[in-house]
Amino acid sequence: MTGPRIVQPGDEALQAAADRLARGDLVVLPTETVYGLAGSTVDMVAIEKIYRLKGRPGDNPLIAHVTGATEASSIVHGWNDLCADLADRFWPGPLTLILRRHESVPSIASGGRSTLAVRCPSHPVARSLLERFGGPVSAPSANRSGAVSPTCADHVLMDYRDVQEADDLLILDGGTCDVGIESTVLDLSGSDPRILRPGVLTSDDLAEVMEVATFHPTEVQGASPGTTASHYATHAPLELLDRASIEKRLETTDEHVGAILLGGTAPAGNVIILDPDPNTCAKALYSSLRTLDETGPDRILFQRPPDGVEWDAIRDRLQRASVQVSTTRSAGGGSSGGSS
Ligand code: TXA
Ligand code: MG
Repeated sequence: MTGPRIVQPGDEALQAAADRLARGDLVVLPTETVYGLAGSTVDMVAIEKIYRLKGRPGDNPLIAHVTGATEASSIVHGWNDLCADLADRFWPGPLTLILRRHESVPSIASGGRSTLAVRCPSHPVARSLLERFGGPVSAPSANRSGAVSPTCADHVLMDYRDVQEADDLLILDGGTCDVGIESTVLDLSGSDPRILRPGVLTSDDLAEVMEVATFHPTEVQGASPGTTASHYATHAPLELLDRASIEKRLETTDEHVGAILLGGTAPAGNVIILDPDPNTCAKALYSSLRTLDETGPDRILFQRPPDGVEWDAIRDRLQRASVQVSTTRSAGGGSSGGSS
């Protein structure tokens, strides 16, 4: 083989992908949130490959992707009326539920935990592959650990083109992801439901079905390793600032800065404007970070998102990316702690 390959998800490619999963190999699959690096949930060798290829610490659990509530309820304990209602309302879609892991799922597929995260994706290619394969598929975001998640097939190709073990990797091309950031993670394994990772489905959306405690970033660090700081990082240090400060820096700095602003017109310089609607912004968020990062700036300045629950997910990702400016990463983009 000559390196990772992007293929169009026709019948033949989907069957080849399902065959790979069946023999313990990995496949990159598009979902509506971000691309995932997928292997069979019940195959320990495949799961080990995911951790190795992604460079992910073995204690950071994976999400099992399923065709729907029936399959989900067969790999967890505690699937109750609330789960059924949530699945009815939000699946297929960007909601992940954490419940107690069924013994049929090896603990390695959940980073050694007694709980398991399950999600039913809505992307038609992900659904076709899951149906053909006929079993749950574990898939973290297909970036290398600590980096920005991929929202198109090319992002994945770039991340793995120099990784020797990815030489044979098959990437199913599902276009640009509609949602653009990772699913909302809702922990139902304890006495109170908790949002461990905010996503485009907010606590307000979930309130249609249940009462949820709002997302509190500082409370969740221990509960979900991939939500620790030092994630989603660009190579260039990222700073969150108000718009006026960014415009001033663009005018006065000697550094080669790139800037991402929310709406309005772009001042002179290396600037990307994102739509000021949170969902539209989410869709373009990671590709804009990657695009700007590729221009090799000394620093990326990102306009601080507004307050409000609808910006929680974007604020969360940006805060994790920007933490590295002052802590673990001064050069090179390494990651510490858990990764996602
Ligand atoms: O949208 C998504 O969720 C994407 C697509 C591919 O489905 N997947 C994704 O997976 O973002 P990953 O592995 O990059 O992030 C999963 C997050 C991590 O923060 C992980 O620690 C947390 O979910 N998680 C998974 N299982 C968990 C568990 N049993 N308990 C606590 N946190 C868990
Ligand atoms: Mg991730």
